[in-house]
Amino acid sequence: MDKLISTGETNRAIFTVSDDFDRAATIDLIKRADLDDLRNPLFLEHVVIPKIGLDRFIAEHYPENIRQYCGKNFMACQMPIQLSKYLAYLSSKKINSYLEIGVAMGGTFVLTVEYLKRFNGEIDAMVIDMNPPGEHLDWYSENGGNFRYLVANTTEPKAANTVMSRKWDLVLIDADHTEEGCWRDYLMAKEFARLIAFHDVVNELTPGVAAVWKRLKEVLPTSRYREFIEQYPDFTKTAEFSKTMGLGVISLS
Ligand SMILES: C[S@@+](CC[C@H](N)C(=O)[O-])C[C@H]1O[C@@H](n2cnc3c(N)ncnc32)[C@H](O)[C@@H]1O
Repeated sequence: MDKLISTGETNRAIFTVSDDFDRAATIDLIKRADLDDLRNPLFLEHVVIPKIGLDRFIAEHYPENIRQYCGKNFMACQMPIQLSKYLAYLSSKKINSYLEIGVAMGGTFVLTVEYLKRFNGEIDAMVIDMNPPGEHLDWYSENGGNFRYLVANTTEPKAANTVMSRKWDLVLIDADHTEEGCWRDYLMAKEFARLIAFHDVVNELTPGVAAVWKRLKEVLPTSRYREFIEQYPDFTKTAEFSKTMGLGVISLS
């Protein structure tokens, strides 16, 4: 049964979201969607990302109306209101290679790869994670997903060798969330990436990443970075926890 989802206060568009969280249908949706729709953050936020599904372990961080998507499908650890604008921004970039450092269940990875393929053709896609792939990425691999997966801690030489093996068009750093670890991963990637994205740049639960992001913003001209840090208006505001997640991208060439 399909549901009609209005896109918030503006009501600029109404899209249908199927209750069916079938993985193949989700990939198919991205493969077949109109490119103009895929450039539209509202379509991404309200149609595509819900079908990709959201992390179940942090369900309480999501506004109530989107908690229904937690634990479904590929389970991205992301806020749709931020990820949608990040992807729309990437749609205008030439990206033929993508490395995600820290992938968890794979929701962001599968979505990013399939999304970028629509705008750039084939993508050399790779994951580095200290844990082996879960069932979602196994399924993706067996069903047309073309990517490499290195099981490694980013402190290990084999991780550095992989990062430094080529120039990546886009690297997403979303692994060690301490300031030292995130900065180390940034130093490892910075000569080998055209764009580096960071996740959790305003997350008050991960102050280490926020500190790295602050350090970078202090030295980079504003033209060299973009951030996608919008918060849901109905997100529970408390003195301890008022901002969550956030994506930041720096341009290195
Ligand atoms: C927050 S999750 C990644 C979420 C994913 N990028 C997404 O958006 O859905 C963090 C991941 O980083 C991995 N990780 C944490 N520290 C790491 C390290 N030092 N080296 C490699 N992987 C690490 C964890 O195993 C976990 O899968």
